[in-house]
Amino acid sequence: MGRKRIPEIKEVKIEKFAAEGKCIARFEGKVIFVPYTAPGDVVDIRVVKKKKSYIEGRVTHFHQKSDQRQLAACEHFGVCGGCKWQHIPYNLQLKQKQNQVEEQFEKIGRIKVEEQLPIIGAKDQFSYRNKVEFSFSHLGWIEDTSDESILKEPAVGFHVPGRFDKVLQIKKCHLVSDEINAVLNLTEAYSKKHKIPYYKIRDHEGVLRNMIVRTSSNNEVMVIFSITELTVEMKSMLDYLLEQCTFISSMNYVINTKKNDTIFDLEVVNYYGTEVLNDKIGPLAYTVRPKSFFQTNRRQVQNLYEAAMQMASFKSTDIVYDLYTGTGSIALYMARQVNKVVGIEILPQAIEDAKENAAINGINNCLFFVGDMKKAFTQELINEHGKPNLIITDPPRNGMDKEVVELIMHVKPAQVLYISCNPATQARDLERLSEQYTVEKSQAVDMFPNTHHIENIVLLALK
Ligand SMILES: C[S@@+](CC[C@H](N)C(=O)[O-])C[C@H]1O[C@@H](n2cnc3c(N)ncnc32)[C@H](O)[C@@H]1O
Repeated sequence: MGRKRIPEIKEVKIEKFAAEGKCIARFEGKVIFVPYTAPGDVVDIRVVKKKKSYIEGRVTHFHQKSDQRQLAACEHFGVCGGCKWQHIPYNLQLKQKQNQVEEQFEKIGRIKVEEQLPIIGAKDQFSYRNKVEFSFSHLGWIEDTSDESILKEPAVGFHVPGRFDKVLQIKKCHLVSDEINAVLNLTEAYSKKHKIPYYKIRDHEGVLRNMIVRTSSNNEVMVIFSITELTVEMKSMLDYLLEQCTFISSMNYVINTKKNDTIFDLEVVNYYGTEVLNDKIGPLAYTVRPKSFFQTNRRQVQNLYEAAMQMASFKSTDIVYDLYTGTGSIALYMARQVNKVVGIEILPQAIEDAKENAAINGINNCLFFVGDMKKAFTQELINEHGKPNLIITDPPRNGMDKEVVELIMHVKPAQVLYISCNPATQARDLERLSEQYTVEKSQAVDMFPNTHHIENIVLLALK
């Protein structure tokens, strides 16, 4: 027996916003998640995934457009997965972000927040990202609907959501600066003209794999190419880019012949200019190495750190642990208010930066350690460096490992300041922590305008 084909679902009304930048509609009692829509749209939907309890769909036709919409600025909107909310006015984006934190805390964490503070919006809703990674693929992609729409031409841009082998050619990304877009366009034009082969992920052939471009508040621009070899043509392209883009302060490449794209385990070769970027957050200076994490929205990050500082009451006698410290940016920002900060982070080069950043800023009450959190944050470390009154934790999207949550509960600092870029995993961790902590305050800070991504700070107090 053949599988029952699900016909296109006709003329459904989009009801409300949901997580991950999607909205919800209903069909025959089932929830349908649909991206790039707004409550009030009436649409035809193609089913892309059908599960027992829900359907995922894509719009094929609009019968009516919601009056909550605005015109998206970007020509790639709707195909590129980067900005899922460009069609939503900014004040409504903010309202939805705050609602989603509250909903996830209630549904996933089943926790009560004593004081919900209003979300802090960003002044700049475009050109705010200081880092972007473009991918090269021998197969371009123009549409999201069927395999027929694959271009035969190579493309450099962003991966189409859910398609590791398909890249959408990007002409201009509105979240980054004009300099970054200029590097992208010149790279595309030169590499295509001189036929530098783009990577074929399925066959592991080709030269150009990825390109990271980072900028700093000092107007420095760092470029890092991930390539399989430095061919003569590739070298000529680096020289051409340096000649055309005199604003590039650091040109680098990584030779990656592995099957996966990660460059964390590979050496970055400096081809031209400085080996680091020099950045600033508030009064502090930071050096950032090519592979280190640094907050991507540097203008808004100061608001994030200030909001966090205001929430917790730092004292000059405090011993603070900063878990997932990255290049130590929070640790150093808070260090002026307290007795001592201990920062822990998995990336050795980020810790090198953190130490250097402490020295540059004349801060000598911070200690930094490298390691996987569940192994490096231990009772022995605490015995040696003192019991924290306050723990700051800022984990990656998947949240904290169970062992880390357990050790926090065992150590019992009076306050925990939990900064998260994923309220769903934050809610999960808060549920575990709520055995011993009350959630005193929660405040979202919009670090990623026009996208569905949410940053949220929570202050926990020991019961
Ligand atoms: C969201 S970033 C926070 C960085 C830093 N707090 C800041 O504001 O710049 C998360 C950091 O956790 C680090 N990380 C990821 N997994 C880790 C692990 N298992 N153990 C320790 N650090 C980890 C990442 O390298 C990254 O620097």
